[in-house]
Amino acid sequence: MKMIRPADRVNNVQEYYFSVKLKQIDKMRSEGKDVINLGIGSPDRKPAPDVIEALTQTAQLDNVHGYQSYIGIPALRKAFANWYGKNYGVELDPASEILPLMGSKEGIMHISMAFLNPGDEVLIPDPGYPTYQAVARLVGAEVRFYDLREENSWQPDLAAIERDNDLSRVKLMWLNYPNMPTGAQADPEVMKKIIAFGKKHSIIICNDNPYSFVLNPKPSSLLAVEGAKDIAIELNSLSKSHNMAGWRIGMVASNKEFIDYILRVKSNMDSGMFRGLQDAAVKALECDDDWYRQLNEIYAERRKLVFEIMDLLKCEYDPGQVGLFVWGRIPASYTDAGELSDLILDKANVFLTPGFIFGTNGSRYIRISLCCTVEVLKEAIRRINLIVKN
Ligand SMILES: Cc1ncc(COP(=O)(O)O)c(C=O)c1O
Repeated sequence: MKMIRPADRVNNVQEYYFSVKLKQIDKMRSEGKDVINLGIGSPDRKPAPDVIEALTQTAQLDNVHGYQSYIGIPALRKAFANWYGKNYGVELDPASEILPLMGSKEGIMHISMAFLNPGDEVLIPDPGYPTYQAVARLVGAEVRFYDLREENSWQPDLAAIERDNDLSRVKLMWLNYPNMPTGAQADPEVMKKIIAFGKKHSIIICNDNPYSFVLNPKPSSLLAVEGAKDIAIELNSLSKSHNMAGWRIGMVASNKEFIDYILRVKSNMDSGMFRGLQDAAVKALECDDDWYRQLNEIYAERRKLVFEIMDLLKCEYDPGQVGLFVWGRIPASYTDAGELSDLILDKANVFLTPGFIFGTNGSRYIRISLCCTVEVLKEAIRRINLIVKN
């Protein structure tokens, strides 16, 4: 038998960093080490009781277990539209401008498949969520990184992007505000300029917006910029805002034409979401302000402890950052964030994410997740304290 080789595109991507790291952590645990993982942003708490109730109630019914519509049930599209109207002041037509998705991660693939030909170029933030570049490579597009820098409040420098790149082959630009991993909020003036930039160069601007309700006093949407819908697409998700990461519920919003292209791809990739999940998502989207307040009180308490960890490690951070992580700059004494992360994993059995996995501009930063309890964070502090005191 001849050796079976994978498709060339498989050689263009690597196994996801966390997938590899989790195997290492599992191995350490199997050797009896009690590893605290402060790496991954998977909310550890439950969705609201009436959300779970809606799922279980639907699951009891007879006629809900078949394939569902490719475009989601009308009630879910309407609930997303109301949510956008109420929280972001953005008006969306539930019939044509919203498509429910199984999380925003899948949406990155759908959008890339819908708009990118091999050889097209994509602007991707450095640092940024690794999936943007992995998916661009999977579809044969060329990655053009643009810098996000602390001195620029982690906003894109459009003049530099125009100066440093021939933009004629750029088809799409990824944005992610509130930003992961840096915790930066969108600057409204910069967002206006980005929409103008997209129109000027015919570049689709895609904002990935899953963090807007976490520790963020002012949730915002790129689609709120006047005229944005003509050129912009936004992904959103219930993963972080409603503790539903494993349920896989998200959405994409844009103009009808763009949504139609995305649907052409998506309807050939999946066969709709279980009806119970959609009914539950409607409930989640109808939650009142108390839900977000309670969620954020918990994260705020945890964040104080994470700031303590940053202080112990002598990392600098912006106390005003938003989202599900804390991002901090490591002291000059370390070669890079990998050295600090390895040291803390080795000596304290605590895993902190080194910023280089998000790009070269992250190489002197670490990211700590807020997705673990106060007790666990206190234990992490205790262990790290023992190292830094010695
Ligand atoms: C920036 C960013 N986008 C998208 C996702 C994926 O979210 P979802 O669960 O909606 O697929 C994540 C998850 O960590 C993320 O950090």
